[in-house]
Amino acid sequence: MASGFKRDVGVIGGGGHVGLPLAITFADCGLKTLIFDINEATIASIRAGKMPFEEDGGPEALSRALKSGNLDANTSGDGLHECEFLLLIIGTPVDEHLNPTFNAIHRAIDGCTKHLRDGQTLILRSTVFPGISEHIRHYVADKGLKIDVAFCPERVAQGYSLHEFRKLPQIISAFDPGTLEKVKRLFGGFTPEFIEMAPMEAEMAKLMTNAWRYLQFAAVNQFYMIATNNGLDFDRILHACRHNYPRMSGMPGPGFAAGPCLVKDTMQLAAFSQNSFMLGHAAMLVNEGLPAHLIELASKKTELKSKVAGILGMAFKAESDDKRDSLSYKLRKLLSLRCEKVLCADPFVPDASFVSQESLLRDADIIFIGTPHKAYRGLKMPAGKTVVDVWSCVAH
Ligand SMILES: NC(=O)c1ccc[n+]([C@@H]2O[C@H](COP(=O)([O-])OP(=O)(O)OC[C@H]3O[C@@H](n4cnc5c(N)ncnc54)[C@H](O)[C@@H]3O)[C@@H](O)[C@H]2O)c1
Repeated sequence: MASGFKRDVGVIGGGGHVGLPLAITFADCGLKTLIFDINEATIASIRAGKMPFEEDGGPEALSRALKSGNLDANTSGDGLHECEFLLLIIGTPVDEHLNPTFNAIHRAIDGCTKHLRDGQTLILRSTVFPGISEHIRHYVADKGLKIDVAFCPERVAQGYSLHEFRKLPQIISAFDPGTLEKVKRLFGGFTPEFIEMAPMEAEMAKLMTNAWRYLQFAAVNQFYMIATNNGLDFDRILHACRHNYPRMSGMPGPGFAAGPCLVKDTMQLAAFSQNSFMLGHAAMLVNEGLPAHLIELASKKTELKSKVAGILGMAFKAESDDKRDSLSYKLRKLLSLRCEKVLCADPFVPDASFVSQESLLRDADIIFIGTPHKAYRGLKMPAGKTVVDVWSCVAH
């Protein structure tokens, strides 16, 4: 670390789904790391050595980092002024009108202004609207602080970050070569490759990556809807499209495209293009329309009104306890208008209103697979049930 600093890095929002694995990784590489997060329960959990959410390899890595003495965490921000680097990784949602919100970043910087000092480097890592890095550079300078600003987007798959940090190339961007070199030094302990960009290019690259994935899911979901509306078996069609045919190897299967990133980043790109990103909006209509389509499929097989529906899997993705923006909840809402009752089960998501998998399989007349958790793969459905399984996950 540079002279004058007692710690290497402070992670603002470091208790979050991507902030915490990153903070642990820095600590694992021998860097003195401080987590600052306003969520008291999360910080208490981290300090007690308990991961606040599912993360592959997380419990062992957290315990190792705490034992090494390199990792500390608080809700006060005390100690951030000792950090050479400050890394900001808070949530950047869109609002109820699907417009980007900038308040969270302003609030986070305002909240720790008293801990900032000249000579620090502030690395923005949240996914941001294009131009925000430049805006934040001025925002910090207007506070009279001489702080270098960089933007280095996070691209890991939630739940597998600890593995991916060490494999994925890191996009880095800054407003001057000296800051880029400092950023390389920080990430150099585990990053195999750097991609240098201008901040606005890096902001766009991250948004386009997520929008691209969202479009791909929408394309296959629409194919699924077309096929199933015509009574065709989509599995057979998908197999034919992909089997030993390299040009289609990247085609994903159908399923809920949800979670806290893909749709909101597609909408950020749409807002940036003055809402002329037609493909992005069309993708949202398709992906968000899938729950209603599945209910229509069920209604073609059986009458719904007097039936009990069950949803197996409420998390937004497999093997995760994260229910943020999960389409299983939209499915539940729509089903509650059409069926007598809706039961939900998930082995990862804690919710006292959920029932056990066994009760759901016994009591539901119509069973929807909401999340393709491993526990459901190949699961035998009880005889006599109507099953709607967009993922082709359970036994058929
Ligand atoms: N989740 C992912 O898979 C993923 C992947 C790549 C990029 N991203 C991006 O990373 C960012 C964070 O996502 P996340 O899923 O980790 O969010 P998260 O909600 O899990 O974590 C954010 C953390 O920031 C904390 N926080 C909020 N305001 C704060 C403040 N003012 N001061 C200090 N702490 C504060 C919260 O308490 C929370 O612990 C988003 O921009 C997201 O788009 C997420």
